[in-house]
Amino acid sequence: MYYYLDNLSKIWHRGGELQSVDYRIPEEIVEEVRLRSDIVDTISEYVRLQRKGKNYLGLCPFHSEKTPSFTVTPDKQIFYCFGCHTGGNVFSFLMKKENWNFVETVEHLAQKHGIVLPEKELSPREKEQQTRRRRWEEIHDWATGYFHEVLLHKPEGEPGRLYFKQRGIDEETIKQFRLGYAPERWDGLIEALSARGVNPQELAQAGLALERDHSEGKSRGFYDRFRKRVIFAILDSRQKTIGFGGRVLDNSTPKYLNSPETAFFNKGHHLYGMHRAHQGIREHGFALLAEGYMDVIALQKAGFKNAVASLGTALTREQAKLIHRYTGRVVIVYDSDQAGTQATLRAGELLRDMGFRVDILSLSGAKDPDEYLKTFGVEEFNKALAQAEPYIQFKYQIHVKTKPTLSAPEKAELVRELASDIIKVQSPVEREGYERFLSLELGLTLDRVQAEIAGFDRKPSKRASEEELFPNKQDISVKKRDNINRCANPTQTGASVPDGVIRAEQVLLRLLLEQLIPVSEFKEQFEEGFWKVAYHQQIFDYIEKARCIGKGAMPSMESDALQSKVAQLMLEDMELSNPERLFHDCIKQIRSINEEETVEELQARMVELEKSGDLTGALALLKEIGERLRSGEK
Ligand code: GTP
Ligand code: MN
Repeated sequence: MYYYLDNLSKIWHRGGELQSVDYRIPEEIVEEVRLRSDIVDTISEYVRLQRKGKNYLGLCPFHSEKTPSFTVTPDKQIFYCFGCHTGGNVFSFLMKKENWNFVETVEHLAQKHGIVLPEKELSPREKEQQTRRRRWEEIHDWATGYFHEVLLHKPEGEPGRLYFKQRGIDEETIKQFRLGYAPERWDGLIEALSARGVNPQELAQAGLALERDHSEGKSRGFYDRFRKRVIFAILDSRQKTIGFGGRVLDNSTPKYLNSPETAFFNKGHHLYGMHRAHQGIREHGFALLAEGYMDVIALQKAGFKNAVASLGTALTREQAKLIHRYTGRVVIVYDSDQAGTQATLRAGELLRDMGFRVDILSLSGAKDPDEYLKTFGVEEFNKALAQAEPYIQFKYQIHVKTKPTLSAPEKAELVRELASDIIKVQSPVEREGYERFLSLELGLTLDRVQAEIAGFDRKPSKRASEEELFPNKQDISVKKRDNINRCANPTQTGASVPDGVIRAEQVLLRLLLEQLIPVSEFKEQFEEGFWKVAYHQQIFDYIEKARCIGKGAMPSMESDALQSKVAQLMLEDMELSNPERLFHDCIKQIRSINEEETVEELQARMVELEKSGDLTGALALLKEIGERLRSGEK
């Protein structure tokens, strides 16, 4: 089936043909845009993708389905839906999804990745806005370069170098984060940027300089906003600086100074570390949310490339939505002080209400992740991470910490306090988990805990609307999404199938789907009723049908669930380098497991017969069992 993908990728990578005649974007620029626009990143803004080995799986945005059959293959930079057979590259995805033409699509992606396209006509307003934004970005880029240069090479950067050295930050990290130093003078940045033709007014508009009070008739003057501070450039996922944070070198206050809010910078819409974390979050499958700049740097340096921090404020919905592009799971690792705990509860609640899975990593023995890593090392951090607690349990611990022994009314109050969180839990299994947790912790029966919680009326939930999480996409439904495994392994007979058989059948199907084993060879070996898992039989029927129609044509599949199963099978990591051998091993394994099964069945039936008094029947079975076992030993 992968030959479809190969052909598709060849065709779709030649985007140029689709361009309108009046405005052609040069082929090499189109190619650059395509290379810079990672397909997984782009599609993730529309579809919640789940990682499956080297590939990704999600609900198809082009047809309605309950179980995912939409796949993204980063190696080939293409997507393909096994349900509706829509596929293509990053351009065709956006063209279809946004109803844009090819030029609009390339323009959108180019702008997003900072690639300049040859000029085309803009309205005067658009032009002005674009010019202002570009200038703003340019100034920020130059400023970042200036602070960074001072820190790395200039004599006046010495205090900054000393500071970072003390805090264990090496040159490589300094470069990765474009860290900088603002020297102790009033016009360092003003002077450096005036050499590039930026005047002080412009710098003030960009939030990087301040105007002196000239009310007393003094002449107009400007001075640098950031002085004698180490500088944290805040980069977005395009690697562009959008603001700065500056930290004092000592204990003076304010400890941090941030860029002011402007038309182009809104603190609450960004997360520090995102320029590196967007990849890491996907790889880890969750985001590690910390409080501070230094935490993000220390965590990422220690290998947690999924670490981000809200910029010194309470987590906002916008920031949560930014995370949601990449994952539905967050582990919060805020400072261990009182303020950190309070902030954890607030952020946890916000994230939970938006539908995230939230776990809390509480660090003991250190004030924040940075200090923890320095004191105990990565391994200990990993251990602590494995012990991260679900938000509700964390909240429980916080409540009992202040009061170790609880009276009966206090217990009731505590259960009610947590009930408001528990009733929001969608999964009945998860919910029961919390109820059991409370019953064990508080020494109450499960019934009583459940009764107390059930007494809580379901309040209208603040859960984020789908439109909010997936802006301007109408047909993606998170709620409607069925758990993939819910319909797992329905069998032909209704009895349960041993795991070994399921797995072997999966491998066989994959060999057939990838045409590593011809269907004819398989059919020589197999008898009616070979497939024990019902949908495996269906997939096999489908493969046969496809074979009859011939290469190139794809018959449609009966059901949504089946498409999804095929997609999953195709994405599963399997070692397929020796197909022949794998094929025979699988068949052998299935046969031997089935044999064991039958013996067990026979034994059960024998016991039944014995009980009912049919001794002749029982003896006959006993004989058969004996024969089977002997032949199995050979
Ligand atoms: P270190 O103390 O250097 O390890 O920094 P930190 O990053 O751990 O800072 P801290 O835990 O004190 O604060 C967490 C985050 O809150 C910081 O990274 C800043 O983003 C923000 N923050 C802290 N102090 C201030 C402040 O005085 N002003 C502003 N605007 N933000 C602050
Ligand atoms: Mn801190």
